Amino acid sequence: MIKKCLFPVAGYGTRFLPATKAMPKEMLPIVNKPLVQYGVEEAVEAGMDEICFVTGRGKQALEDHFDISYELEHQIAGTGKEELLTHIRDLIERATFSYTRQNAMKGLGHAILMGRRLVGDAPFGVVLADDLCLNEGGEGVLAQMARLYRQFRCSIVAVMEVPKERISSYGVIAGEAVSDNIIRVTSMVEKPPAEEAPSNLAVIGRYILTPDIFDIIEQTPPGKNGEVQITDALLTQARESCVMAYRFEGRRFDCGSVPGFVEATNYCFEHLYSASED
Ligand code: G1P
Repeated sequence: MIKKCLFPVAGYGTRFLPATKAMPKEMLPIVNKPLVQYGVEEAVEAGMDEICFVTGRGKQALEDHFDISYELEHQIAGTGKEELLTHIRDLIERATFSYTRQNAMKGLGHAILMGRRLVGDAPFGVVLADDLCLNEGGEGVLAQMARLYRQFRCSIVAVMEVPKERISSYGVIAGEAVSDNIIRVTSMVEKPPAEEAPSNLAVIGRYILTPDIFDIIEQTPPGKNGEVQITDALLTQARESCVMAYRFEGRRFDCGSVPGFVEATNYCFEHLYSASED
């Protein structure tokens, strides 16, 4: 059973300035719920109720969000508004939240390494909250991956097909098909030019990692953009042992970009919000 899930949330969110000037990008709301809460709900649904944040300066609002707000709750107690907090209160009760800081922006691999003490020596999930994954009426993406982990006992990355003109924004994998939606990874490149991409299968922000990845990251030199890339560490792991790529069921929205964010907002308003209003 995987219990821990790591959320690297130290990034500045420059694509959303000025909205993110004084507010963490993970707190941007998709309709009436901050982006990060969708990710935490997905992790908890998958049984990963020990949430570990790798955070940074200016991210205080995240800690406050996953805590009781006494004044506010006292103020709305007994009113019709109380129920708006029921869900987040349950989440806070069901999960634990730990925080550590990444004090240098050295890439996703480095951010994950900073979580080592929080995670310890067990397999763990990683959620990039920018990627909103929904599988309405079905199992969440992390829960699907946790199930696969029980089968393969190795690191797993979630992948999806991406048009050629957008492939250079992603980690890209190639490998041998194990079944319709599972591929054993043999090649993995961070943000390749379209003509050098080994396939059209892009890694999205959901990972299950075995703890040997930490030693591998420590040995991984800076790669693309001079940053320590989890993609490079995973390629080493794929060569030394095994990494599986999984074409998940559900939808993924790139909420790190304005068009993806708007698309997610419209989708959630239509499919989730109106349903919860009934
Ligand atoms: C990160 C990873 C990349 C992955 C992407 C998914 O990139 O480095 O391999 O494909 O997340 O969203 P970022 O988007 O943070 O630059």
